[in-house]
Amino acid sequence: MPGLLYGGDWNPEQWPERVWAEDVKLMAEAGVNLVTVGIFSWARLQPDAHSWDFGWLDRLLDLVHRHGIAVDLATATASPPAWLVRAHPELLPVTADGVRLEFGSRQHYCPSSPAYREAAVRLTRALAERYRHHPALALWHVHNEYADHVEECFCPASAADFRRWLRQRHGGIEELNRSWGTAFWSQHYNSFDQIEPPRTAPGPVNPTQLLDWRRFCSDALLALHRAEKAVLDEVSPGVPVTTNFMSMLKALDYWEWSRHEDFVSDDAYPDPADPRAHVNAAMNYDLMRSLKGGRPWLLMEQAPSAVSWRPVNLPKGPGRYRLWSLQALARGADGVLHFQWRASVAGAEKFHSAMLPHRGTASRGWQETVRLGAELRRLGEVAGSRLRGRAAVLLDWDSWWALELDDHPSARMRWPDLLRPWYAALYERGVTVDFVPPTAGFDDHPLLLAPNLYLLDTATAERLTAYVRGGGRLVCGPFSGIADRHDHIHPGGHPGPLRDLLGIVVDEHWPIPDGATTAVDLNGTGLDAERWSEWIETEAAETVARYGSGALAGLPAVTRNRLGAGSAWYLSCHLGADLGPVLDLALAEAGVGAELPGLPGGVEATCRVAADGTGYLFLLNHGPEERLVPLRAPGRDPLAGAGPLAGADPFPGTAPLTGTDLLTGAEAAGAVTLAPLGAAVIRLPAAQERA
Ligand code: GAL
Ligand code: ZN
Repeated sequence: MPGLLYGGDWNPEQWPERVWAEDVKLMAEAGVNLVTVGIFSWARLQPDAHSWDFGWLDRLLDLVHRHGIAVDLATATASPPAWLVRAHPELLPVTADGVRLEFGSRQHYCPSSPAYREAAVRLTRALAERYRHHPALALWHVHNEYADHVEECFCPASAADFRRWLRQRHGGIEELNRSWGTAFWSQHYNSFDQIEPPRTAPGPVNPTQLLDWRRFCSDALLALHRAEKAVLDEVSPGVPVTTNFMSMLKALDYWEWSRHEDFVSDDAYPDPADPRAHVNAAMNYDLMRSLKGGRPWLLMEQAPSAVSWRPVNLPKGPGRYRLWSLQALARGADGVLHFQWRASVAGAEKFHSAMLPHRGTASRGWQETVRLGAELRRLGEVAGSRLRGRAAVLLDWDSWWALELDDHPSARMRWPDLLRPWYAALYERGVTVDFVPPTAGFDDHPLLLAPNLYLLDTATAERLTAYVRGGGRLVCGPFSGIADRHDHIHPGGHPGPLRDLLGIVVDEHWPIPDGATTAVDLNGTGLDAERWSEWIETEAAETVARYGSGALAGLPAVTRNRLGAGSAWYLSCHLGADLGPVLDLALAEAGVGAELPGLPGGVEATCRVAADGTGYLFLLNHGPEERLVPLRAPGRDPLAGAGPLAGADPFPGTAPLTGTDLLTGAEAAGAVTLAPLGAAVIRLPAAQERA
């Protein structure tokens, strides 16, 4: 489809058909060009085990097609109907405490249930066969938010599936015993039949069992997804298939999952009550873009205003919805869709905002819906362009899972908490980042950040070393290089396989109690470490910063090891909000700078680039004040004939860029003024983009 996608989940089964006619009329008015249909329609499509009811969906697809709207057709498998559940009560999921979760909500299925899978695949096939040639069909939407509500199941079917998975992973039972370290606490198994999922137990459960369980749960849901995807690929080849991800979600290894997606789509619900929500959103969007190596992705769901599932649900104030929608585009999305089109009047989500609110077309929400639709049409040419991060952040689900197992030196070492300050520091400096998996070719980026690598195999450590030797800059956070893939400690001193690369050795971990801080001295700049510190000793590395207080006073806190053509930095503590000055040193060394020089606070800038070299510079003002944004290339006069502005140049030492703001059609030269919550999307001719 040309241009940007705009629309949302549409649940027409909640409405009499006469309302549909009004829906499509209003969709056309708002510029909606794609609707997601059928996500929770299973009971309506298959009233019982022996009958189908497609008539209403036939009429609906014909109707939207007549109005020039395309359909993202769901496989409708996320919520099995009551008749199926009563015929197969064993398909309901079971918690670690043995409680079977009842029908009456949604997503009530066991990932490993044969009855559920068989029924889901059958429904998918029926839908694919019926609609594969329908002219409204643009893409397939498999299931809905895998791992939402239920990410694991402890029933006998899941136990059997877990044992099968373990056999495949470990081969023999003695291999499993070694991997799980079952010599500890008399946990030895004689056969796979003796193994159960990690149900609630008297005390700490075997950590490797828990880690394998995490891996298994991600794989079990993926197997389910692949079963549906395979049917769609077979019956409806050529129609792209996606399932909606849930941003940076612990439960699912999205690197692995995205290999099985035709493109990535994401659901994002930044909290309007959180003044920093846009920073977190930027991080999630960067991840979504990175999952398929920078290819455009789709914001499948966002709320036009308030959600209904937080304790207190704030609306998005005037302009916020537009700004946050543009932010997804700024970070590589090719469309903005919503939950949902028309606000429900019944059910658990009747207070959730919608593109068409309860009040109807007189509402502020509807005005915003229409306005955004019109603006997305103006931005159509942005579709397909890409952006690339200047630095990379290493993200490994395996390591995330292992890091957060119990009985560690500190329970405060949680991946999202460790990552966020790193991302925020880069965001504030205007540096766009890509995420990379541990298997990536790191060479694409001059700077690689690893906020934590608790679990690290020797092969990855060797590749990191080769990257640094070849001229890369690595910045590694604390509590890294600790365990191998079985969660066994690398022997011989932390950070195990990173010891030579980082040129340091850890003597002991020194977590910092809640609420306390430890001073760190960076060449006279005072920083505060929180959560975590380490007693380290340098081997080959030089000391960049030292601890300034507490038991570690005087010992190295931050180090740098020059190796080959590059260098490897180690942060032995969590610097939280004080991380910036250390990252500045690494950024300078790697020659990585902001997307746009002189960016004022609160303004986000990214540049998407089309195949022909045209740049689309997104400027987003997240703050409450008007901002003057320099539209400048770093360095004086890199462009023929484009010298500094005559007279008082507000941005000396830079060369002005000129382009067209696609939102207003106005020419921008040298600077752009953004209103509070204002935005501009400047089309830069190819030569200027290069500058
Ligand atoms: C999503 C879900 C939608 C809807 C929405 C409400 O997680 O996919 O069906 O529930 O949240 O915010
Ligand atoms: Zn189960």
